[in-house]
Amino acid sequence: MTQRAKLVAANWKMNGSRDQNDRWLEAFRAAPPRCQAVVCPPFVYLEQVVAGLAGTGAGAGGQDVSDRTLGAWTGEVAAEMLLDSGAQWVVVGHSERRASFGHSDAIVAAKVERALAAGLRPILCVGETLHQREQGLTMAVVAAQLDAVLERCSARQLAGGAIAYEPVWAIGTGRTASPREAQEVHAAIRARIGARDGSAAAQTRLLYGGSVKPANAGELFSQPDIDGGLIGGASLVAADFLAICAAASH
Ligand code: PGA
Repeated sequence: MTQRAKLVAANWKMNGSRDQNDRWLEAFRAAPPRCQAVVCPPFVYLEQVVAGLAGTGAGAGGQDVSDRTLGAWTGEVAAEMLLDSGAQWVVVGHSERRASFGHSDAIVAAKVERALAAGLRPILCVGETLHQREQGLTMAVVAAQLDAVLERCSARQLAGGAIAYEPVWAIGTGRTASPREAQEVHAAIRARIGARDGSAAAQTRLLYGGSVKPANAGELFSQPDIDGGLIGGASLVAADFLAICAAASH
């Protein structure tokens, strides 16, 4: 039996406006989910989202964080600033940032370390491309992404956050990993953490991400090593996000 409470996080990516967010938050407040939920808007909307989530039990998070400490780093957002804006969580190493903004495994590891040092809970994203999967490299890629972080932070520290397995070929494509495919990688991730720290592995929430929708969430979340989801496209519609949260609450 697992003691892990389900966690469902919304990754709004570069979407939203003050008006749209207000409407979303109003719908969310009208029927707050029973599972633990986290909403990650673009930085500039964090305070709006934090205020709008008040009383719902849900938390807020950033979509990235600087690996630097406060100072002359134009365009960067420090972990302390996220906390100061009311965020408790931060997505780190999303494949869109790895692929389009040059975030290597080493940079991602430094960001996780910085987030943890400041007191944020990282949601570390890992996952293989379609080409890598076809070459049979899925676990090698995911293991390297994970190990880079575990060289700088302990498994115990990571357990305070979450790890999201997001196959790149499933993100925003409408193509979801089958529950069996996802479970297989989740179990391997847990085993890899467990080789370092068994109790941390048992406590770490492993989220699945990649075209999760109300229609497929229930089956994914019922897998033994899938402890919730990181939701992109479907999180933009409050009713869909709430339906996915409901699937996690069963
Ligand atoms: P998606 O995105 O749900 O739109 O596939 C998931 C993610 O990128 O976190």
